[in-house]
Amino acid sequence: MNILLIGSGGREHALAWKMTKSHQADQIFIAPGNPGTASIGTNLPIEVSDFEGLKKCVLDHKIEMVVVGPEEPLVRGIYDFFVNDPMTSHVNIIGPSANAAQLEGSKAFSKHFMQRHQIPTASYAEFTADNYEAGCTYIRNHSLPIVLKADGLAAGKGVIIAQTQQEALACFEEMIQNKQFGEASAKVVIEQFLEGIEVSVFALTDGINYQIIGHAKDYKRIGEGDTGLNTGGMGCVSPVPFMDDDFMQKVEERIIKPTIQGIHQEGLIYKGFVFFGLMNCGGEPFVIEYNCRLGDPETEVILPRLQTDLVSLLAAVDNGTLADVNIEYNENAFATVMAVSGGYPGAYKKDFIISGIEASQNIPDTLVFQAGTGLKENAIVTKGGRVLTVTAQGPTIQDAVKKAQNTLSLLHFEGMNFRKDIGFEFK
Ligand code: AMP
Ligand code: GLY
Repeated sequence: MNILLIGSGGREHALAWKMTKSHQADQIFIAPGNPGTASIGTNLPIEVSDFEGLKKCVLDHKIEMVVVGPEEPLVRGIYDFFVNDPMTSHVNIIGPSANAAQLEGSKAFSKHFMQRHQIPTASYAEFTADNYEAGCTYIRNHSLPIVLKADGLAAGKGVIIAQTQQEALACFEEMIQNKQFGEASAKVVIEQFLEGIEVSVFALTDGINYQIIGHAKDYKRIGEGDTGLNTGGMGCVSPVPFMDDDFMQKVEERIIKPTIQGIHQEGLIYKGFVFFGLMNCGGEPFVIEYNCRLGDPETEVILPRLQTDLVSLLAAVDNGTLADVNIEYNENAFATVMAVSGGYPGAYKKDFIISGIEASQNIPDTLVFQAGTGLKENAIVTKGGRVLTVTAQGPTIQDAVKKAQNTLSLLHFEGMNFRKDIGFEFK
């Protein structure tokens, strides 16, 4: 079948790469894609929010499956757009309906949902301009640190962990009164800080059944030893040593099952990936957030590790056989290390030529996924903060990281930076 993949990051390069391994995939189109996806499929210059343009592409290219990478089109209703149009209603869209995507698109919605279904999460309260003073009082009486979250999508910048009441009050004012994130911060969730180790778990659901397809630990801070500013993710490892059978069983029984049951009971239409952002608090899992998509760079380790055919798996979401699919993993440890632009996550320059891409291809046990790259005068150049990521596998996490670093040493662009300590705590 012909497939359309929506998005342009490292996640989409990894998804496209995995799809090329499937006998069920004929042509793979990526909108808008990047030079990495262009090397294995056909890029189309259509933006992820251009639903009419995407529909035209689906009809022109006889697309039977659409896989949505990023959250934005999902929250804006791409699933409903395709399903409600008689010309495209036959297409298998992988992603939740707009209603279900609120699990990511609205922090307040997801907290209510977790409360209704007794899913472990941090205690919280929500506030708007209407009860602003009550919010200030809530902050003054709250233990520290204290977490403030803009309700809506804020390009990954809507969460603040305040160390003092003053800082929290200033952030709260900025979000509600000064509309720091526009409509997205018209409502603010204030919640308890959870101390622990974060881990990302991924499931695929048809709204009733589910399969767990992997998990990963994402290194979010820019600096070695988990220091400095938060980023979109500087690297990942999978599997994570503390995700043993005992912990995984807790995650499945207390979090995954009640979430999927809750989705079903509430009549939410959800045919896609569920990303459980979890905190391991002394061996007990809590939900920090839901995302309605795969993670980036988590995808760049979970898909290489997954041995099951991805296109068959996604087809099973549509044809009622998801429960019968056999999920198999490669036995090796996987790591991915992200190369970022100098200055990221702050301001950075673009358009630097990336050398070594050709030399870095076809190295055993190693994959290079492009993220923020573009083409300029036939050269591959930097176009974003997170530029490319190298995934490698080996018998141990350290072995995989070493191989990824060896391949990274072949790649270069001005200002290139990457963390040398991914997986440091798993020696
Ligand atoms: P989010 O945008 O929801 O992914 O939050 C960004 C990051 O903030 C998460 O990845 C966590 O590292 C951190 N975070 C969010 N909520 C909490 C919490 N309740 N306790 C501790 N850390 C949190
Ligand atoms: N790596 C975290 C995310 O994709 O949201």
